[in-house]
Amino acid sequence: METENQTPPPSNAKMFGIIIIVLIVILVIIFGVDFGGDSTNTKAPAAGTEQADAPTVAGNKWKEGKDLFKSNCAACHNPKADGTGPALLGAKARWAAAGEHQGKTGEQWLHAWVKNYNEPVEAGYKYAIDMANSRPSAMNSFPYLKDEEIDQIFTYIDSSFAAVKQ
Ligand code: HEC
Repeated sequence: METENQTPPPSNAKMFGIIIIVLIVILVIIFGVDFGGDSTNTKAPAAGTEQADAPTVAGNKWKEGKDLFKSNCAACHNPKADGTGPALLGAKARWAAAGEHQGKTGEQWLHAWVKNYNEPVEAGYKYAIDMANSRPSAMNSFPYLKDEEIDQIFTYIDSSFAAVKQ
C-alpha cells in the first residue's frame, strides 16, 4: 500500500540526466539559430549584388542587350570611349536628334544603320554620311539583328553607363 501510492523522489542520477538533456536542447537551439543566421547572411549579399548590378529597366531586356553588345559590337565599340568605332553612349539620342528623312525617324535610320550602314548613306541621310566619313574603318553590317534587339543594345548602353558619364 505504501509502496503503491508513493512516487519515489528522483534520484540524483535521474536529475543529472534531465539537466544534460535540457542543456543539449538549449545548445541545439542556440546553434540551430546561429546556423540559420549564417546561411541567411551568406545568401543575402549575393542576391543583393546581383540586384545592384541590374538597372531599373526590365532585367531581361538589359541582359539581352548586354549579351548582344558583347558578342556583336564590343570588338569595335566601347560605351564611353572612342575606339575603332565611336563611343556609343547616347548614340540613340544623337540619331533621334538628327531627325526625319524620307518619312523615317532618326531612330529608324539608326536601326537601318546597324543592319547595313550603306542604306542610310545611300538614302542621303546627312548624319549617316558624316558618320561614315568620320573614320577610316567601316562599320560591320548586322542584317540579322531585329529592331527590338538593336533597341536592347542601346537600352543596355544608355541605362548602364549614363550614370557614370562625365
Ligand atoms: C568592325 C568594327 C565595328 C563593329 C563590330 C561595330 N561597329 Fe559600329 N561603327 C564602327 C565604325 C568604324 C563606326 C564609325 C562610322 C564609320 O566609319 O563607318 C561605327 C559607328 C557606329 C554608330 C554611329 C555612332 C554615333 O555616334 O552615332 C553606331 C550607332 C554603331 N556604330 C553601332 C554599332 C552597333 C550597335 C554594333 C553591334 C551590333 C556595332 N556598331 C558594331 C565600327 C564597328
